[in-house]
Order: sequence, then C-alpha cells, then structure tokens
Amino acid sequence: MRLATALAAVQPSASMAVSDAAKALKAAGEDVIDLGLGEPDFDTPAHIVEAAYCAAKEGQTRYTPTGGSAALKQAVARKFERENGLHFAPSEIIVSNGAKQVIFDALMATLEAGDEVILAAPYFGSYADIIRILGGVPVVVACPAEAGFRLQPADLEAAITPRTRWLILNSPSNPSGAIYTRAQYTALGAVLLRHPGVNILSDEIYEHITFTESGFVSFGAACPDLRERTLIVNGVSKAYAMTGWRIGYGAGPAMLIKAMTTVQSQATSGASSISQAGAVAALDGPQDKVAEFCAAFHRRRDLVVNHIAAIPGLDLQPPEGAFYAYIECTGWIGKTTPDGTRLATDADVAAYLLDHAKVALVPGAAYGLSPFIRISTATADAILDTALSRIASAGDALTGATP
Ligand SMILES: Cc1ncc(COP(=O)(O)O)c(C=O)c1O
Repeated sequence: MRLATALAAVQPSASMAVSDAAKALKAAGEDVIDLGLGEPDFDTPAHIVEAAYCAAKEGQTRYTPTGGSAALKQAVARKFERENGLHFAPSEIIVSNGAKQVIFDALMATLEAGDEVILAAPYFGSYADIIRILGGVPVVVACPAEAGFRLQPADLEAAITPRTRWLILNSPSNPSGAIYTRAQYTALGAVLLRHPGVNILSDEIYEHITFTESGFVSFGAACPDLRERTLIVNGVSKAYAMTGWRIGYGAGPAMLIKAMTTVQSQATSGASSISQAGAVAALDGPQDKVAEFCAAFHRRRDLVVNHIAAIPGLDLQPPEGAFYAYIECTGWIGKTTPDGTRLATDADVAAYLLDHAKVALVPGAAYGLSPFIRISTATADAILDTALSRIASAGDALTGATP
C-alpha cells in the first residue's frame, strides 16, 4: 500500500511512543517506571462521572451539533467570562475531541501548502507534526533556559515572513512549565500588531496547574487588540483528569470557528454526547478537586526540583506550571555508559535511562530544544521518588569527562 507523501515527515507522538515502549518492557516482565505520558494519574471527580452516567441513562446518546452541544458551549462561555474576563458568543466557540482536534481543525481550516507557523521551542511536539501533515512549515524559534524558555519579541519579529500564518503559544508550557506574564504577552502583542497576517493560537490547556504567585493570564485577556485573530485553545483533559473523555474547546472569531466546524463535520461529526455532558459538570460544578490536583502537582514539582539539584550533570529550572520537568542534560553528553556506549544526544540519554534505570522518559529532540529530557510529574510521589533515585544511580554509573 502506498502512503501519503505528507506522512513521510511526520512522527508518531513521541510521548506515546515512549509509553508504548515502556508498556512492551513491562509486558516482558521488566520493572519499568513510565514518566513519558502527560496525563494526570487521578480519577475523574465523581460528580463528573455521575453527570455523564445520568446523561447516558436519560438518552443523551445521539449526535450533538457538530461544533458542540448548546449546553457545553454555554458552559464554556461562562468559564471564559468567570475565569478570564472574556466574552464569547456560542458562534465563537467550538467543542472538539480533545484540545488536539481544536488545533488540527484550526490549522486544517487555514493552512495552504508552504505556509509557515512559528513555534517557540521547546514546544508540544504535536504542533510540528500537525503542521507537517497539513503541508505547512514549522518555523522553530529556540527559547533557551536563559530566556526562561519564553519567546522574545525581537526573535518573534525576526521569524515573521510574508508566509507566516500562525504563531502558536503555550502557557503554562508543555514541556518547560514556563508561564508568560501579562507584560510579556503585551510585548509580543506589540510585534504582532505590526503583522496583521499572523494569527495567534494560544494553547491554555494547563491554565489551572500553576505554582507561581502571579499565576496565569490568558493571551486573550492580555492582548484584547488581537482578538480578531486569536484562537484560544483549552479543554478539560488536564485540569479535571479527563484525558480519556476527549473534550477540548476553542474560542475565536466566528468566521474561523465556522470553518473549523466544517472540517470537524467531515472528520468526526463532533465529540461524544456523553463526554460533553461530563464536561458541562466539570466546568460548572465544584472546582475543589482542581485545586487539590494542583497542590499535588506542586508538591511533586518540588520533589523533582530537589532531587535533580543533587544529580551532577543535570539542571532544572523550576517549572512554573503544568506537570512536567524539562531537565537539561548537557553534563551527561559525551559520557560513557557501563556497556561502553558514548552518550551523544538526548535521545541516547533517554535510551540509556530506559535500558539501565528502567525509567521511560522523552528526549528533548521531540520538543525542538536539546539536550534535555522531559519527565512527567503526573505520577504518585513514591514512584517519582524511586524513578529519580534510579536516574541518580544511572548518572553515577557514567564515566568520562564531558567534552
Ligand atoms: C500543550 C498541549 N496541548 C494540547 C494537548 C492535547 O490535549 P487533549 O488531550 O485535550 O487533546 C496536550 C496533551 O498533552 C498538551 O500538552
């Protein structure tokens, strides 16, 4: 069978590939700790499950409108009003099968072959692959640790060309945990105001997982002048431990939302009616579990930061949000493993840790900025603790100097 040429440049999701490798090793009897996949280890709060159960029992089992049920669109509108001070009409909202489909719909609805999309590295790997599937060109701007892993206005200005269609921002960031302040967004907004052809996709899916005093600000709230070309992406997967329910949503100009709904109508006909009922309960219901989950992620963030600080050769800027640690491993590059392999890249480091320490994690290459390794901290404290001790021992077993 001949496959589409567009797929030649596309990778399967790196974190899912790592997780599959960990599962295969576990099935073979190995004691592997999987820190690859980014999903909360908590159960979905009971009132959400109950609402979905009732919806199914009451017969909410048919197609909903393609762009989302009226009830969920209204709940999403209330969420933006309440939490971000933003007003969106139902025609400016779409509900999809996860935030990922919102991103897919938006890019499919707007990209022509060769159009450029600016990504601030390190970035969520799927952005680049979705762009490539659609014939677009990811333009990667390195945002190193010294810049707080944040895009700088001058670098944004330099990356914009006549072919630039989108800038994708993600705060709090997967994988770095960096959060943009209002002032930092405003500075980027000043550049974007000079380039009317550039749309902004602001992925805010980790909004509720923040550990800083200043907390989270929506790009939409920071840069209201750009409203007519901003799409805010969010969803219930991460905040409410609902990854398997597959509900995400987007809010932006009605014309874009309409085009995205057309794409979606031919792809999935919309999201699951039962999951949408659960999402209404998540957004409208009590929010205490969200705070509880965030407190656990904060505690684990501290645990990881303390562990990594004691491991020679690894370096971690304390993540400000989300549930990942993006660990610089420059100090391990060039060293030799006990079986004589020289670690040349972060992919080598990840392979070594899987093989030697039985810890599965994702190399920074998947996020566009090397040499780093990303671990997910969405794992029970004790397991995280064991994994970090194993990583430390694997570090001790390396020999040779860094070049
Ligand atoms: C930054 C970012 N955006 C979007 C997604 C996808 O979310 P969903 O599971 O709702 O499709 C993820 C999941 O890992 C993510 O990290």
